[in-house]
Amino acid sequence: MESADRAAHNGDASPPWGEAVLVEFDAGIAWVTLNRPDKRNAMNPRLNEEMVATLDALEGDERCRVLVLTGAGDSWSAGMDLKEYFRDVDATGDPALQKRVRRTAAEWQWRRLSTYSKPTVAMVNGWCFGGAFTPLVACDLAVAAEDAGFGLSEINWGIPPGSVVSRALAAVVPQRDALYHIMTGETFDGRAAERMRLVNEAVPGERLRERTRELAAHLAGMNPVVLQAAKTGYRLAAGMDWDQAEDYLYAKLEQSQFRDPEQGRSHGMEQFLDDKTFRPGLGRYARG
Ligand code: COA
Repeated sequence: MESADRAAHNGDASPPWGEAVLVEFDAGIAWVTLNRPDKRNAMNPRLNEEMVATLDALEGDERCRVLVLTGAGDSWSAGMDLKEYFRDVDATGDPALQKRVRRTAAEWQWRRLSTYSKPTVAMVNGWCFGGAFTPLVACDLAVAAEDAGFGLSEINWGIPPGSVVSRALAAVVPQRDALYHIMTGETFDGRAAERMRLVNEAVPGERLRERTRELAAHLAGMNPVVLQAAKTGYRLAAGMDWDQAEDYLYAKLEQSQFRDPEQGRSHGMEQFLDDKTFRPGLGRYARG
């Protein structure tokens, strides 16, 4: 695997990752690792800043066609850093600072990630708590180790889930499961996360990286302009009424035709209608 060489990024400029966030590139996949294993990858202000800058940098980096988000060590992320994100910031008594650190967290955990221009896959290798549910849901797809541990632990120590954690859950998990875990704080494993559709699939820990790589490689081989239009269209149309959604999704379709240098639509149609070399039910068209 090609390692993330600072000097290799955009010519001579140093990449923004390297401390709380690591990035490795491999055949079109950017493996982005939350890197505070000693703190179970709890998200402190430093990590949040580094993630905002990393997402920005990878958006324009051709080595990244698909982004995989994972965690160093035995944890995906233990949620917000209870000391550095909450207690230390509260202790300053500075509401402007509090606003800034909250804004930075939200900026990557859902705003940028949920509308990211490239496909995103969460690879949940271990503990996933509280605030970590937000980037988990913001990723397009998610694969978890069967024995990964999930928990909405907030209720156990006297607060309801903050930021948009509950909103994110409502987007993917049925109400009964969401309220059960929000209200009891009981942990659950990767298999249960799969049953409630919090993740697409759960696989044995030893197969996690291989299965994630397989999925990411599949996405990396697809038409990027059309993928972007398809995922953004899905996410944003969900909040529209049907008339608006129809108009917006047709506009998205026309935008992707206009912006697609591969002209996927006409190639696909030629292969199906004229050349008879392609059946959509049997696979994808050959990219030109
Ligand atoms: N914020 C700040 N520090 C955290 C943290 C968090 N969310 N989660 C773990 N840490 C720190 C611990 O304080 C400890 O620091 P120390 O070595 O300086 O004492 C270190 O990470 C290791 O944690 P530890 O609890 O010893 O590891 P473990 O492997 O036994 O347990 C967890 C791992 C994830 C089960 C446990 O740390 C935990 O329950 N964390 C809190 C999760 C949570 O409620 N998150 C919600 C935040 S919104």
